[in-house]
Amino acid sequence: MCRWPLLLLWGLLPGAAAAAAGGGSGRALPHRTLLDSEGKYWLSWGPRGGGLAFRLEVRTAGYVGFGFSPTGAMASADIVVGGVAHGRPYLQDYFTNANRELKKDAQQDYHLEYAMENSTHTIIEFTRELHTCDINDKSITESTVRVIWAYHHEDVGEAGPKYHDSNRGTKSLRLLNPEKTSVLSTAIPYFDLVNQDVPIPNKGTTYWCQMFKIPVFQEKHHVIKVEPVIQRGHESLVHHILLYQCSSSFNDSVLDYGHECYHPNMPDAFLTCETVIFAWAIGGEGFSYPPHVGLSLGTPLDPRYVLLEVHYDNPTYKEGLIDNSGLRLFHTTDIRKYDAGVIEAGLWVSLFHTIPPGMPEFRSEGHCTLECLEEALEAEKPSGIHVFAVLLHAHLAGRGIRLRHFRKGEELRLLAYDDDFDFNFQEFQYLKEEQTILPGDNLITECRYNTKDRARMTWGGLSTRNEMCLSYLLYYPRINLTRCASIPDIMEQLQFIGVKEIYRPVTTWPFIIKSPKQYKNLSFMDAMNKFKWAKKEGLSFNKLVLSLPVNVRCSKTDNAEWSIQGMTALPPHVERPYKAEPLRGKYITFMLQKVTVQDAARQPRNASSLRTVTMDHASEKAKHGQAF
Ligand SMILES: *[C@@H]1O[C@H](CO)[C@@H](O)[C@H](O)[C@H]1NC(C)=O
Ligand SMILES: *[C@@H]1O[C@H](CO)[C@@H](O)[C@H](O)[C@H]1NC(C)=O
Ligand SMILES: *[C@@H]1O[C@H](CO)[C@@H](O)[C@H](O)[C@H]1NC(C)=O
Ligand SMILES: *[C@@H]1O[C@H](CO)[C@@H](O)[C@H](O)[C@H]1NC(C)=O
Ligand SMILES: *[C@@H]1O[C@H](CO)[C@@H](O)[C@H](O)[C@H]1NC(C)=O
Repeated sequence: MCRWPLLLLWGLLPGAAAAAAGGGSGRALPHRTLLDSEGKYWLSWGPRGGGLAFRLEVRTAGYVGFGFSPTGAMASADIVVGGVAHGRPYLQDYFTNANRELKKDAQQDYHLEYAMENSTHTIIEFTRELHTCDINDKSITESTVRVIWAYHHEDVGEAGPKYHDSNRGTKSLRLLNPEKTSVLSTAIPYFDLVNQDVPIPNKGTTYWCQMFKIPVFQEKHHVIKVEPVIQRGHESLVHHILLYQCSSSFNDSVLDYGHECYHPNMPDAFLTCETVIFAWAIGGEGFSYPPHVGLSLGTPLDPRYVLLEVHYDNPTYKEGLIDNSGLRLFHTTDIRKYDAGVIEAGLWVSLFHTIPPGMPEFRSEGHCTLECLEEALEAEKPSGIHVFAVLLHAHLAGRGIRLRHFRKGEELRLLAYDDDFDFNFQEFQYLKEEQTILPGDNLITECRYNTKDRARMTWGGLSTRNEMCLSYLLYYPRINLTRCASIPDIMEQLQFIGVKEIYRPVTTWPFIIKSPKQYKNLSFMDAMNKFKWAKKEGLSFNKLVLSLPVNVRCSKTDNAEWSIQGMTALPPHVERPYKAEPLRGKYITFMLQKVTVQDAARQPRNASSLRTVTMDHASEKAKHGQAF
């Protein structure tokens, strides 16, 4: 049984001058966002009963449409249309088929709670259950949903709603986000970390880096809220913003100029900025820390210099764009109980993260291993740390991400998930309840990709056409662990395509294949691309990659390393992909022989300043006389 008795509360007539407080049924809805770019269509929503209440406030005296769609387009969508006509409110549950034909739904699952219209605006408020048990409706989960909206200056007539033309659009939202707890008084001081007149190159992807000095405080402060400051008109240009903590041993000369990030000529000082302290991405709103937690500033452990990394997305190669966007940090001396920290968990960004072309579904896993968490927690916080928000991050091929949590091999509830990942909507999601991470736990970031429309390999990397598989965990109290990631073994991946031997010692990047003949003198990237990938090969390759040993990347603030760094671990035996009823798991670790190659992603400036990563490969294999 999925239907609930409903109480209808409407009653205001069109033209009524005074609507109830807040312009709705009078019951507060905690979330509110603008759906169009002209300021005409506002959506408010919040939990009501076991379901959700929605309020649409639209600048029209005609009908108002709203719905949920798999892609953001009109096909196969769950749609509700309402308004006030001749003094009578109406609301109708519709759906569209794959051909975008609008049909009345036999089962009406939207329940009108309030409606009002004056000469310029229509407001309707309605409720629905999360799961209506109607195949023509979409279930609402914690995943991202593409809401669609439309309106018309005429009400729905006998023939149904008239076509809305361009008065329509889509926006990605997460409707079940917990309500934000801290409401700031208006007088909180803030400072801005905002770029000044950055010339955006006319290319698709630019990462712009600029160092800033945190204002010098005489005492400890807590940042309790961070807001994006996006230059007007640049809402789709500024794709994401990361804030890193840098080494403190600089003088202010490092502040003099910004530069493209990860570029051979960027200042060395940038390389010291390794710890993510905040992340914002397109579509996201401001972020408030929970009432007992703040981001610490002003003590010797705290950031003094920070790096603002802004990812500009300029797919149409516009010229002459100048940007002044960044972040606003609200702070207080009213110190909260705990300092916040961020851990980057998942797949270390490198060329060893490989995704074959033409795959409707390919899964990658990044491991925050038991060994790394154990070492870091035992050293600093044996009683554990508490995670309160998570940001899941992938690029354009990303379709779903889950952050799985294991304790002594037993799977706990997912820390976070998004089965409908939208690259254009990434923000820290608050957990419903804080989750504790203890020594003995391990985490897996599981990413699902679609490369059906790609003809060549997709590699781990910084550009949006390259991929990532990361989770950023916001937690307290702060410990000295900033990255908890893994790199899959590359040699076994190459063996899959038939590579026998590579040139050693490795002096070029990407390194070169020696044999067999068909790959001779090709870089390993070219060899992977030369291989004939069909779906069958892609699937067996996927199975292989998920079973390969991983190299543990486990780093502290200032990029210092935990002793576990560089060790090799086998991925735990867990059910793959995640299912609601997980299996028991076991984790094994063993040390392997090391080979040194240059890290792909954070490409260093020149040969003398090479930061090397140690890549392990199985000594077992060497023993058995194999090529690697
Ligand atoms: C109609 O209602 C809207 C929403 O309450 C309000 O903003 C607007 O000023 C009203 N317009 C008139 C003409 O009363
Ligand atoms: C700041 O550092 C730069 C480079 O490290 C150095 O050349 C310069 O003299 C320093 N300036 C001051 C005022 O210490
Ligand atoms: C983290 O550990 C490194 C190396 O042990 C140390 O240099 C650094 O000061 C520590 N940072 C913090 C914030 O504790
Ligand atoms: C491969 O490179 C080596 C060393 O640069 C060179 O001697 C050899 O002729 C090349 N072989 C082929 C097939 O290109
Ligand atoms: C390489 O980098 C080092 C340290 O940053 C610098 O001293 C050296 O001049 C650089 N060499 C070249 C060839 O750019």
